[in-house]
Order: sequence, then structure tokens, then C-alpha cells
Amino acid sequence: MARKGKVTVIGAGFYGSTTALRLAEYDIFETVVLTDIVEGKPEGLALDINQSRSIEGFESKVIGQATAPDGKGYEATANSDVVVITAGLPRKPGMSRMDLIGVNAGIVRGVAENVAKHSPNAVIIVVSNPLDEMTALAQIATGFPHNRVMGQAGMLDTARFTHFVSEKLNVPISSVKTLTLGSHGETMVPVPSRCTVDGKPLNSFLSEQEVGDLVDRTRNGGAEVVALLKTGSAYYAPSAAAARMAKAVIQDSGEVMPVCAWVDGQYSISGVYLGVEAAIGREGVKKVVETALEPGELAELKSAAEAVRAKQADVKDL
Ligand code: APR
Repeated sequence: MARKGKVTVIGAGFYGSTTALRLAEYDIFETVVLTDIVEGKPEGLALDINQSRSIEGFESKVIGQATAPDGKGYEATANSDVVVITAGLPRKPGMSRMDLIGVNAGIVRGVAENVAKHSPNAVIIVVSNPLDEMTALAQIATGFPHNRVMGQAGMLDTARFTHFVSEKLNVPISSVKTLTLGSHGETMVPVPSRCTVDGKPLNSFLSEQEVGDLVDRTRNGGAEVVALLKTGSAYYAPSAAAARMAKAVIQDSGEVMPVCAWVDGQYSISGVYLGVEAAIGREGVKKVVETALEPGELAELKSAAEAVRAKQADVKDL
């Protein structure tokens, strides 16, 4: 299999290390770089992943590199094709993603500036929370065109919704299709009208109340995991989503996925990072894809846009 390109994962915590492992196991990149500010952590994890290569049968090489806020160590990330930013604090039980904004803004800004210096042509995938705001901040800090900076949230929220439907109806996960748009937070917009089981509308299997309960559980999907873990937040499903986005970029697949993308005119919404469906490829977001929404869903998407717009306007000063 032809391997090509370089992907860097910034932050070797639970989310970052799992993402690096998934990317290495795909065996599609020449090199996977994992960095962290904690000396020894990325190096140790990279060594550990590399030692699994003969068992799992992949050739991609993983490089672990400690970095400093002044940019020391970022040479190892130079000329990455894709960079996944996971650096930042996760939530504790009872916290909202927005409670992380002050501290994570400082981290994401510094990281994004260093990434831009060393990989001026990269596509950036942000996963640090609060997601919509950190994605907007990464675009400002890099000065990259909007299409080359996107966030991971919609694939994860959609995957959670799909899991809950499959569990509720006791049907194979592959028979369920769902969709969530909007923000990765309070104003997440699950889209029941786009949900099907074996191609049939979800509302032919479940009552309005039952769908509403699954929608609520999806909106709180991250918090449910945080409450159970007590320390740290989810990373298996999140890393699966982020890794798929990086794969779509390097393979220039054009796959349409729900992501946090810059919306400029679609759904009559402009100038904001928001969860929408988009075709993903070498240039990042190739195209935001509009889907038919019911009037109530469209209204929810528009209010999500206004809620995140207000917050995103503040990030440039953080
Ligand atoms: N550069 C590189 N790494 C950094 C930096 C920085 N400037 N600042 C912090 N880190 C590292 C930490 O040292 C730690 O190893 O980021 C890592 C974060 O890891 P975890 O605490 O395990 O958090 P994780 O679960 O991986 O979540 C990371 O993703 O889902 C979001 O809300 C979550 O914002 C959080 C992020």
C-alpha cells in the first residue's frame, strides 16, 4: 500500500495518543508525529506504538517530540499535511465545555501559531474544547484560509446519536443513519428528519417522546461519559472521528461528513464556524453541503449560529 504524507497530533493526552494510534494503524501516512509539552510523554507513547507495528502489521512510523511554548521542538512537525490539535484541558464532572475557554484559548493560540510557522500548507483539525470557539481561534492565530481550518464535533455527535438509536431499537449499528448539526455544546442540533433505520424514517419506529429522549441523551453524550469517568473526558469515539477526518484529507476522498466548518451563505448563515455537512479533501473543506431541513430544525440551526457567533467574536481577544 502506498503511504504518503505526514500527520501531526499536538497533545499526547488520551485524545491525542488514541488519535495517533488510530492514524498509525490505518497505515496510510508515511509519518505520524505526536507532540506534548510534557517531556518524555510523546516520546514514550511513540516508542510504545512503534513496538506494536509488527503485531498489528503497519509500517507508518510514529515520532514522539516534546515541545516548548516558545516553539522549540516544532521542527519535528515541519511540513505536515494535516495537524490535529488536541492540546488543552478536558472537562471535569459538572463543567460545561465553555468553562474551559480561558485556559484552552491560551494553549490553542500558542500551538496554532507554532503550527502555522512550521507547516504553512497544513490542513488543521481542531478538537480542543470549547470546540467551535477553539476552531475559530485557530483560524485567526494561523491566518490560514477558512477552508484549511476545521473542527471535529459533528461526526462524534452523530456517532453518539447513531449508537443510542441502535441500542434503543436493538438493531445493527450499520442499519442506522443519523445526523447532528449546530454547535458542539448546548446548541447542538440533532436532525431527526435525516435519521433512518434500514432506510425508513426514525419516526416510524419511535414516538416523538422517544426520539426527543435520544436527542437529549445525544446533546449530553459527552457529559454522560465525563460523569462516569470522574476524571478526564471521552476519547475513543472522539479520536475515531478525528482520525477519519485526517484520512479523508490525505486521501482527498471528498467524503461528506458533519464537521465544524466556516459557513458563508449556506442556510442563509454567514461568517461563523458551525457544525454542518462538508466534503473533505486535500484543501480541507472542499464544499459545505446543504441538506434539506424541516423548518424547526433550520430555525434551531440559525439560533445555534447566533449563539456561537457571539462567543466566537470574543475569542480574538483571548
Ligand atoms: N502543547 C502541547 N501539548 C499540550 C499543551 C501545549 N501547549 N498544553 C497542554 N498539552 C497537553 C497536556 O500535557 C496533555 O498531555 O495536552 C494533553 C491533554 O491531554 P488530556 O488531559 O488527557 O486531555 P484529552 O482527554 O486528551 O482532551 C484534550 O480534547 O475533547 C477535548 O475537552 C478536551 O480540550 C480537551 C482536549
